[in-house]
Amino acid sequence: NWPKHVTIKEVGPRDGLQNEKTAIATEDKIAWINQLSKTGLTYIEITSFVHPKWIPQLADALDVAAGIERAPGVTYAALVPNQKGLENALTTQVDEISVFMSASETHNQKNINKSISDTFPVLTAVVQEAKRAKKTVRGYLSTVFGCPYEGEVSIEQVAAISERLFEMGVDELSLGDTIGVATPRQVEAVLNSLLKKFPKEKLSMHFHDTRGTALANVLLSLEMGITTFDSSLGGLGGCPYAPGASGNVATDDLLYMLHGMGIATGIDAGRLTEAALFIQNKIGRALNSHYLQTVDPC
Ligand code: HMG
Ligand code: MG
Repeated sequence: NWPKHVTIKEVGPRDGLQNEKTAIATEDKIAWINQLSKTGLTYIEITSFVHPKWIPQLADALDVAAGIERAPGVTYAALVPNQKGLENALTTQVDEISVFMSASETHNQKNINKSISDTFPVLTAVVQEAKRAKKTVRGYLSTVFGCPYEGEVSIEQVAAISERLFEMGVDELSLGDTIGVATPRQVEAVLNSLLKKFPKEKLSMHFHDTRGTALANVLLSLEMGITTFDSSLGGLGGCPYAPGASGNVATDDLLYMLHGMGIATGIDAGRLTEAALFIQNKIGRALNSHYLQTVDPC
């Protein structure tokens, strides 16, 4: 009972690059995103409009968003934490605005400098204004499966905040395993709870692969009917406000598994590999994905 088609949302240019030490030139980011646009991906998160002191790697958000070639059929998204970020995002042509918060108090505070309760009104205003500007809105909930500061996070808390985000009007909710602690039974428990309240088409899974469990968690999610997954090419990235967090599940590994299972993605593996080699070369070290180890870099 696996789905026939899965949508992969590429978050490498944002979640990947935000945590890489190597500074990538703006023109290289643009060239990479343009390459990604030709792989068959239908969704690319290109940057975030956050404070440059908090995320210096993405301080060129305006230039990246203005510089890319927009391919037909591709949704270009950007992360926005507040009104100021939205103002900046709306000067560009991004199609989708992603708001974000955490399921645990301490991570929320460290990541966006606010309590959970103070975050709701900020995001509510952002969602309303983004909708007025005819943008679709994605919500991210971080630390769903565990918090680097607080440890366990209750499913009730996850469900309650998810409900608030949907009430605000987010079109889709991405459930983040920010520090890559989830295992399949836990994914099953969280999804069992959330799927009683929200349709599976409105949920996306965002697994970091810190402990090597991401693909197992994807498989379990597929079995529960989830058809949208976030991933980062080559396994780039992490979250700078979650100590020890490593990259997202690698898009190339995910693609290999899905295609091998006969699940279509619309993505061309060869073109994707070219794009992975391009960014690997700019980062200047071997990327973490398994698939890329099998590819001759020349
Ligand atoms: P703050 O210091 O509380 O902001 O930061 P403030 O509202 O008090 O404003 C202070 C100054 O910042 C003001 O400037 C504002 O204009 C400016 P001043 O008047 O002093 O000159 N400012 C901004 N400048 C540019 N862009 C903005 C912005 N907002 C205010 N958007 C803030 C609050 C949210 C801005 C800060 O905490 C921040 O930027 N945090 C971002 C952290 C981040 O990006 N984390 C990584 C992304 S989340 C993630 O990776 C998880 C995810 O992948 C899912 C998962 O894996 O779980 C999504
Ligand atoms: Mg993430």
